[in-house]
Amino acid sequence: MAGVRPLRYLARMTDGVANAKRVAAFAAADLVESGMCVGLGTGSTFAFVIERLAERMRDEGLELSGVPTSEATAKLAKAAGIPLRDLDAVERLDLAIDGADEVDPQKNLIKGGGGAHLRERIVASAAPELVVIVDDQKLVDVLGAKFLLPVEVVPLGWRHTARRLAATGCEPKRREQNGGPVLSDNGNLLLDCKYDGITDPTALARELDSLVGVVDHGLFVGMAGRIVVGNSAGDVRLIP
Ligand code: A5P
Repeated sequence: MAGVRPLRYLARMTDGVANAKRVAAFAAADLVESGMCVGLGTGSTFAFVIERLAERMRDEGLELSGVPTSEATAKLAKAAGIPLRDLDAVERLDLAIDGADEVDPQKNLIKGGGGAHLRERIVASAAPELVVIVDDQKLVDVLGAKFLLPVEVVPLGWRHTARRLAATGCEPKRREQNGGPVLSDNGNLLLDCKYDGITDPTALARELDSLVGVVDHGLFVGMAGRIVVGNSAGDVRLIP
């Protein structure tokens, strides 16, 4: 791929996808400099960023603070000894790092597999750059051909909102667990929407933004900065 700089990091795990996530996460965590306030993403890939930041705090005396994008991340970061700050208590972040579910060649993303995309968008928007960390299986030609697009909706009248969503060309399904609906950290419902490939993410994002009842969706268009991609062999490449 043109414009991609190869880097190599030592693999520390044998399990393929976990290893790919870990090497990408470690490379991104190494971009953090002392004194930074960092937007802390959510998900299994981001958990490795926390691991590496904790290691650097211990071994190098790295000093940082973080703004978490979910209750789950806040808990992990606290346990790792990373000082947390409220978003409104800081003027701006120095960097945001987060995972994604799919990345297209224009660096548009699907996010929200963990249901945290609203806070993720707000936190990333307060930073000059969103560094995205993924394993190479998440690079796709067209978003939404495989992964369902998560949409956060207000519980009131959600079936009506789901019908409005369906009119955009998808099949929405309420996310459930143990027989009940999954609620986001914001107390909203999550509808996972099956599109037959999203060929114009910009147009769809605009359409979803205008739907009554939709709080936010997982389409991140034009928001990603560098994409750090890991593979199961432990190689990392950077898409600038
Ligand atoms: C959380 O809501 C998501 O946006 C995650 O960042 C995304 O789903 C990636 O998750 P994994 O790192 O667990 O694959």
